[in-house]
Amino acid sequence: MSTQHTLRFYKEAAKILRTYKQFGVSIKSQIYNLKHFSKKALYALIIETHKHEAIIDNLLKSCPIEFEPTKKKYLKKKNDSLLRIMVTELLWGKKELLPESKLVSILLSNQEKLLNELSKQENQNLLGSIKKNFSLKVTIPRYVRVNTLHWSVEEAIDYFNFNGCELLSTGDNYESFLTTVKHLSDSQYVQDMHLKEVFIFPPQTEFFSDVKYLEGSLILQDKASCLAGHILNPEPGSTVLDMCAAPGMKTSHLSAIMRNEGCIYAVDRDKKRFETLNKIVNWHGATCVQTINADVLTISTEQCENVRYILCDPSCSGGGMMGRKEGANDHKDEFRLRKLANFQTQLLLHALRDFPSAEKVVYSTCSMEIQENEEVISEVLSKVKDFKLVDLRAKIPDWKNFGSSDYKCGKKCIYCRADEDLCNGFFVALFKRKSKKNKQITMENKDNEGDILNELEENSINDSCNFKKKKNKKKKF
Ligand SMILES: C[S@@+](CC[C@H](N)C(=O)[O-])C[C@H]1O[C@@H](n2cnc3c(N)ncnc32)[C@H](O)[C@@H]1O
Repeated sequence: MSTQHTLRFYKEAAKILRTYKQFGVSIKSQIYNLKHFSKKALYALIIETHKHEAIIDNLLKSCPIEFEPTKKKYLKKKNDSLLRIMVTELLWGKKELLPESKLVSILLSNQEKLLNELSKQENQNLLGSIKKNFSLKVTIPRYVRVNTLHWSVEEAIDYFNFNGCELLSTGDNYESFLTTVKHLSDSQYVQDMHLKEVFIFPPQTEFFSDVKYLEGSLILQDKASCLAGHILNPEPGSTVLDMCAAPGMKTSHLSAIMRNEGCIYAVDRDKKRFETLNKIVNWHGATCVQTINADVLTISTEQCENVRYILCDPSCSGGGMMGRKEGANDHKDEFRLRKLANFQTQLLLHALRDFPSAEKVVYSTCSMEIQENEEVISEVLSKVKDFKLVDLRAKIPDWKNFGSSDYKCGKKCIYCRADEDLCNGFFVALFKRKSKKNKQITMENKDNEGDILNELEENSINDSCNFKKKKNKKKKF
């Protein structure tokens, strides 16, 4: 008789699946360091759940499971990965669960109902269409960022080549570059056209046991996520505020861009995610980072002085992340989107209004919804007069995907589209403080990096990490 898994096992599987979907942390790398469970069984169950996600969602919609209110609240709060994991076990896995909790008993009492519904849908050929959608899903390649705090891009190329990989030419333009990326075969790789520290390997390439990955010299970070730091491009020695920093992938990238010179205040309000942020910052050797566990809306220039660059990468509906809920666009929850957009607007306004020495602010989301992107930018631009939006066409040569032309700001902001750009879906906008000189002589279109820096030189900025605790002062909005 095969051994049955415990609820703890399923909770661990759900946690790994959630982390993978939220932050893109590879499933294998999460399992790698676990001690108490069978890694093989855990991996198989997570992959099986991920594979059947659309089918499970469809089943649960047409055949809802009645939970008592406390369990319902728990599942909702913890998101429904646990439910999906256990349904997978019941329908495709061991087909049994240890009756050790109320939650399991409820699921067991629904097993037959779910199986009936599954075969009904199979008969109606509904599964066929769901499976088709699955196979149509874009497979994005494996992106690896070279941690330039540890070694150089050239050293990394030598390392890849030494390990039997073949570096292909990036090509002359974006189209030919994408064709190369699409057709990478085993052991081939290519340098990203826009981010020289990013390399692209075929989708299934594994790095989790690679010594360079384990020591934090190679970082598994999608190109889309790297674009935010690349566009903000903070000067080494300056002070940066990363408003929503956990788990810390963009913080780590920013520290590499700054060569660990200067200071990054990396703020996150979530306790658990804050722990991950600290781990990643240490792992990647980002010594210029000072982490702060707080609601960034309570953080002011008094505590984080001389902030010149701000990254605002708030929580979002996450429709752009590959592997996130299928068909999120079809079932978008308008109310939730409105709530998220209000929160995102509030954070961005805080960045643009409350840090007088800020020169550049990047706003990014992994959402593909205009409510969280173009609409947030338009709303903020109507309220803030000291900043202008920078046209990103010049910053990312040959880029094809911009915001909607229905919005005045649209053409200046960029989107990454998974099916076209072969990376996670993403949105980025860059704000730049208008210089007084520019305002007077109305040189609105002059996008010169130097002008604001000259102006600020007079303020004799002292860029050091010196977070000062505030005494019970609450921000009003
Ligand atoms: C999209 S994630 C950030 C991802 C991160 N920038 C990275 O690249 O790894 C959004 C983060 O914002 C945090 N957050 C949401 N509201 C916040 C607030 N008011 N203050 C600080 N952090 C907040 C969440 O806890 C979450 O970790």
